[in-house]
Amino acid sequence: MAFFWGSSPSPPHKLYFLAHIIGLQPRADQSKSHTTSDAAPGGGQTRTEVIDSAVMKLQAVKGTSDILPEDQARWHDVYRTANEVLTRAGVRELSTPVFEHSEVFTRSVGDSADLVVQKEMYTFSDQGERSLTLRPEFTAGVVRAFIEHGMQMRPTPVKLWSRGPVFRAEKPQRGRYRQFHQINCEIFGLDTPLVDAEAIALLYRLLQGCGLTGMVVKLGSIGDPDDRKAYNAYLREVLAPRADQLSETSQERLRLNPLRLFDSKDPNDQALLEGLKRPLDMLGDNAKAHFGAVQGYLRDWQIPFEIDASIVRGLDYYRRTAFEVHHGSIGAQSALCGGGRYDGLVEQLGGPAVPGIGWAFGVERVLDAMREDGVASGAIARPLLFLVPMDEAAVDEVAAKALQLRETYHIEHAYVRRNPGKGLRDADRANAVFAGLRGEKERAERSYQLKHLASGEQTMVPEDELMTFLRRYV
Ligand code: HAM
Repeated sequence: MAFFWGSSPSPPHKLYFLAHIIGLQPRADQSKSHTTSDAAPGGGQTRTEVIDSAVMKLQAVKGTSDILPEDQARWHDVYRTANEVLTRAGVRELSTPVFEHSEVFTRSVGDSADLVVQKEMYTFSDQGERSLTLRPEFTAGVVRAFIEHGMQMRPTPVKLWSRGPVFRAEKPQRGRYRQFHQINCEIFGLDTPLVDAEAIALLYRLLQGCGLTGMVVKLGSIGDPDDRKAYNAYLREVLAPRADQLSETSQERLRLNPLRLFDSKDPNDQALLEGLKRPLDMLGDNAKAHFGAVQGYLRDWQIPFEIDASIVRGLDYYRRTAFEVHHGSIGAQSALCGGGRYDGLVEQLGGPAVPGIGWAFGVERVLDAMREDGVASGAIARPLLFLVPMDEAAVDEVAAKALQLRETYHIEHAYVRRNPGKGLRDADRANAVFAGLRGEKERAERSYQLKHLASGEQTMVPEDELMTFLRRYV
């Protein structure tokens, strides 16, 4: 339903408040949200802006969406599968807050203080002038919680999974949203290839459990910090003569963190990078052996994968194994999942030297891929019985009966007197298995007239035996 704020005369302070709420948008968008040139002192909103906002039709912020009741079953299917697959592997669920001190994320980004990543964050000051950020991913918050709760004292490895909304101020398109949802998994405490392979195998089994068939695991390695240093030096050297032809962002990246150049979507940048060596071509002996061992496990366990030298996972915290899972039919944003090893991140955030590896997949993209792969939609909850009051006295009777039967079954009812035709139509629209009619005759017989909506079969059932009767149909 759409709401309009224009018609009722609200006191000005209330309008300011509403306009303020409506105007909550990332910095990149603010120029578009209000058209007035009548600037208010101190950068606040002008009267014109407030009135514009007050008559604005309220709708979800661009890049965010509602998950409607009819779509919930699919979401629950994915969460249930994640819970089952991960719990069976000893991965325990951790919930962290939706926002953190901004430092949790800026510190995890690393020395490069990556400008692009920071621009994508929803950062704001609270009333105490603290800088807070809506989580743009789970990993940094999970590491913060790991340190804060001294989880390194727990039996190793510590395996944690999380689910929930994630926020990035990106340009929306298919598969790219400003609020989206991730299922995230982290394994702390071991740096052996066995753990890398386990993380990837779990991810694969989970996506398979969701019914996906068209996904491809792409595996790469970005080496150890020394390999990365050598590789960055190589990139700087080969690109120096043509650095000024790179896009502005890429020039910045070349200076701060050259590996991230490969994240550029600019076709001109991509052309300049073509033919260059990739980190995989310059691995040191240790990283090479580690990478080989991970592949060995995956082959033994029959987890299909492709080696892909273009997987670089540019964030500073990644080391050695890096991987993505892609799906060919969901458009340009084909990555379902990204992950990798991040030994060093726990220390970077002020904790002990504990290695880690993890991944996250985007639930919206996985649901899109499930649709493309023709996975049947999740079972939608339907009432077993829809009660229809056929006179005034029956309105309260069916409500009381529904409350009683709901201790065991899904029961719905009409809230006003209905004639049989309309009542049956209501029951049909609710997708009920049975309609239960109640009127004068049924009251006299202390019964309900039950109609099986699929077959049309009718039975008079004594009101005290409804519970037993329904049991056969669950
Ligand atoms: P990421 O590659 O940034 O990794 O995101 C993981 C997944 O989230 C992507 O593969 C994609 O499916 C989904 N995703 C990302 N951005 C969007 C968006 N704007 N709209 C919809 N879906 C999106 C991470 O987040 C790392 N923290 C993963 C990780 C965990 N590494 C180690 N542990």
